[in-house]
This record gives sequence, C-alpha cells and structure tokens, in this order.
Amino acid sequence: MNMEDRTSAALRIDGERLVARLAELAAIGAIENSGCCRLALSDDDRRGRDLVVGWMRELGLEVSIDPIGNVFGRRAGSAADAAPVMTGSHIDTVRTGGRYDGNLGVLGGLEVVATLNDAGITTRRPLVVAFFTDEEGARFAPDMLGSLTHVGGLALDQALATVAIDGKVLGAELTTIGYAGTAALGEPRAHAFVELHIEQGPVLNIEGLTIGAVENVQGISWQELEIVGQSNHAGTTPMRLRHDAGYCAGEIVHFVRSLAREMQGNQVATVGKIDLFPNLINVIAARATLTVDLRNTDEQLLLEAEARLAAFLLQLARDEGVKISTRSLARFEPVNFDQGVVRTIAEVSARLGYSQRRISSGAGHDAQMLARVCPTAMIFVPSIKGISHNPAEETAAADLAAGANVLLHTMLELASAE
Ligand code: GLV
Ligand code: MN
Ligand code: MN
Repeated sequence: MNMEDRTSAALRIDGERLVARLAELAAIGAIENSGCCRLALSDDDRRGRDLVVGWMRELGLEVSIDPIGNVFGRRAGSAADAAPVMTGSHIDTVRTGGRYDGNLGVLGGLEVVATLNDAGITTRRPLVVAFFTDEEGARFAPDMLGSLTHVGGLALDQALATVAIDGKVLGAELTTIGYAGTAALGEPRAHAFVELHIEQGPVLNIEGLTIGAVENVQGISWQELEIVGQSNHAGTTPMRLRHDAGYCAGEIVHFVRSLAREMQGNQVATVGKIDLFPNLINVIAARATLTVDLRNTDEQLLLEAEARLAAFLLQLARDEGVKISTRSLARFEPVNFDQGVVRTIAEVSARLGYSQRRISSGAGHDAQMLARVCPTAMIFVPSIKGISHNPAEETAAADLAAGANVLLHTMLELASAE
C-alpha cells in the first residue's frame, strides 16, 4: 500500500456536514412533523434545485443541465477523457414526504466530493453527482421520468408533453422554473452508477444491520382507471337500479388487496388515489378515477396480477352497468443490478466494519434506469420502523454517515478502474 492508498483508506466523510445539508434542503418546502413537499417542477423544487446547484458550484463542480432538467455536477479526474463514475438520485418529493428519500443520495454524493476536496485527492476517472427530474412520478407519471429520458427510454418530446395531476404541462413548468437546460441529452454517459438511498422498508431496521447492498428492484405497474356510471338521487334510487362509480371504486380497492394476499410472495398492490365526481353526500357518484400500483420482483407474476385485475374489471363493468377504461401510467420490468458493483459495495462495507446483507428494493429508483446503460447498483441504509413517503421518515445519523462512507469508498474503487 503506498502513501496515497493509506491516506484514502482512512478517509471518512463528515457526518455532521451531511446532516446539516439535509436539514437545510428539508427547510425548503417544509411541512408539519419535519416532512417535505417539493413536488417535481414546483416553485419549491426550483428553490431546492437552486440550493443544491449552489453547493455544487461551491465544491468546484462543473454544472450541466439537460433539456429534461436533469442536473450533473462534474469533478475532473486525472484521466480527463475517461467516462465518469456517477452517483446521484432525486430531490423532488411526494406531497407528504420526508427529508431523506432521494435527498440522501444527492447530498451524500456532494459529501463524497467535499471529502475528496478536503483531502486533496484526484481520482483517475472523473466523478459526477447528479439529480434527476421527477423521480417520484407523484405529480407527472411515470416515476423516474428524468433518468428514463436520460437513458433513452422515453423520447424528449413525449417527456416534455407529460401532463401533471394539476393539468400543467411538464415542458412549460420546466421552463417556468428555469431548468430547461441545453446540455446534450444522455450526457455524460457513466462508466458506472451507484446510488445511496434509504431503504424505505423495514428489513435492515428489523435485522439490526447498517448497510444493504441492493441486488435488484421489483417491477412496477401503474394504471389509472376511469369508471363512468350514472349520477342519481341517493335517497330515491333503488339499490338494484344504481350504476354507482363510487361503489365500483371500493370494489377495486378490495379486489387488489385480496389479489395481493392470494398471490402472496412479493406481490404488493395499492390504490393510493381516488377522485369521485360530483363527490357529494346525497349524489350517487357518476364518475371515479383511481390509480392502481402493482409491484412484484417476478415479471411473470406481475403480468399475472395485471391480467387478473383486467378480468375483474370486465366482470365488474358488466355486473354494475358502468364503463371502465384503463390507462398505463408506468410499466417497468424488474431490474437486476450489476453483480460486480454489488460485490464492490459489499466488500467496501465489510472493510469499513459495517454489518450488511444483500437486499431487494421495493421502491423505484433512478438507478434502475441507469442500469440500462452502465454497471449499476445501490447502497441502502436503514429506515427506522421502515417508514417512508411520510414526514416521519427517519434514519439514524450514524447510518446516514455509514452509507455515505460506503458510497465514498465504492466510488474511489470504481474511479480507479481502467
Ligand atoms: C418511487 O419512488 C416509487 O417507488 O413509487
Ligand atoms: Mn427515492
Ligand atoms: Mn419516493
């Protein structure tokens, strides 16, 4: 081991600085109980972006913004033309989000850069810290929209034409917040991608482990359903003569829950959003729109869940005399990460003395898109009680620092590769 290797082996990130940055970003769009609301391309998303871009510049990163608003901060390497090692995640949140989902991956990346800057270390390959537009998909479906566009999975004009749940068009909103960039789409193309993220589930917390080396991400199927029935008087209409869209929505909620229970294994199913029209106490609902989120680690089983839902909807429409139409909002197959990068994360964790296991991701992540174009994997840290997409989302400060240290040494290793 030469002198420089010894120095970098002893290198650790500054946990207090990381927590301070997380808190400063969380103050933008803060909601009650320490939560965050920075829906994609909202004014608070812009303010969060401005803060992070300011930090990137302070750290000496060269900032580029592509036409879908993905932001990349580049730190030069000694092999100037080599493809960079990239890390990053997202800073948009759901409407009732916490302060770690996505933000940890971006600010953990900045912490890696700050640590290398302080130590005066130049890696062989350049490093890039990125944040991708609209990972959550809560305002504009699909989720992971920015990273999907970056890897060529969604055409730019189609991405820009996406309509939000509030009726606004993505391209116009991107221009309004000043993040319709001009850098070439798809650039920079990474040599490898590593994303640090909270687990958002209970496994590491229950097992008392610090690090998850993420091997795969389950498949995601999002649909929007519209049920058209008939409004009528709630007091005068006999039950047998009703075409009640509200009742049908309730049946669907019940069906997907039973479906997941019956299928067992890794099948999960959620109706997270329902709108009724006219939504009045004494009027049978004429219309209902609702979303169904189905996920499974096995593509065949996910296809089976979709097929069983479709058959149920046909029967329900017949039985209740309503029309039911469906629209796909997102459909991504399960993704396996690169075993070499997973192994590097596990080896680095062991070397740093952190307890660990291999793990699966139940949530969607930008890394699953980057996996299409370069060797990719993720690092998870525990979520206390497995709570996420909730202001109560929490991770112990020591675990945040552990995750960032694993990110640092994984990036150092990947960036020294030929
Ligand atoms: C996105 O974060 C999702 O998993 O829903
Ligand atoms: Mn996330
Ligand atoms: Mn999320």
